[in-house]
Amino acid sequence: MATMTAPPSDKAEIVDVPFNHRGLVERLSPGGRYIDAQSDVDSPWVPFGDNACIKHLAFDVRQNLFSNILWIKSPGVIGTHLHRGTITMVCLEGSVRYLEYDWVATPGGLILEVPGESHTLVTEHPEGCKLFGWMQGPIEFYDSDANFVETTDVWWYINHYETYCKENGIAINPKLYV
Ligand SMILES: [Fe+2]
Repeated sequence: MATMTAPPSDKAEIVDVPFNHRGLVERLSPGGRYIDAQSDVDSPWVPFGDNACIKHLAFDVRQNLFSNILWIKSPGVIGTHLHRGTITMVCLEGSVRYLEYDWVATPGGLILEVPGESHTLVTEHPEGCKLFGWMQGPIEFYDSDANFVETTDVWWYINHYETYCKENGIAINPKLYV
């Protein structure tokens, strides 16, 4: 067999790939999908406090996984929180940092967070920031006296999305439930 240095890319055409379990995939897989994150067609901006909005993109209740874009509209803070799961985020616009760390995330930058980390998110950019997140596991929020306030998890984010849709006559989008 020839050694592959890059995937074959000589023709743009559909190839019928052999796969033993095609029937099972067709019967059982929830399927991949495309969710438009640039417009409000697939998902609206839902207010998150006075200065922020969330555009929900995916919910997976089996893995307690939720994906969204967090938009902080001007300089502001997301209060101190403790992660019980793993977070993958990409800064899309503006800039953002954590009080606890010495780096500043700028567009295109990847942010990784792991269980047990607690930190306080701040944007000092005049236009705030947009952060894409693919997030797993509960997040515990604390007030400035370190008192526990609330846990956000996949159920919290689903409720946040569905409550806003119901209040505003927006149809629930089944594509977001992966
Ligand atoms: Fe975090």
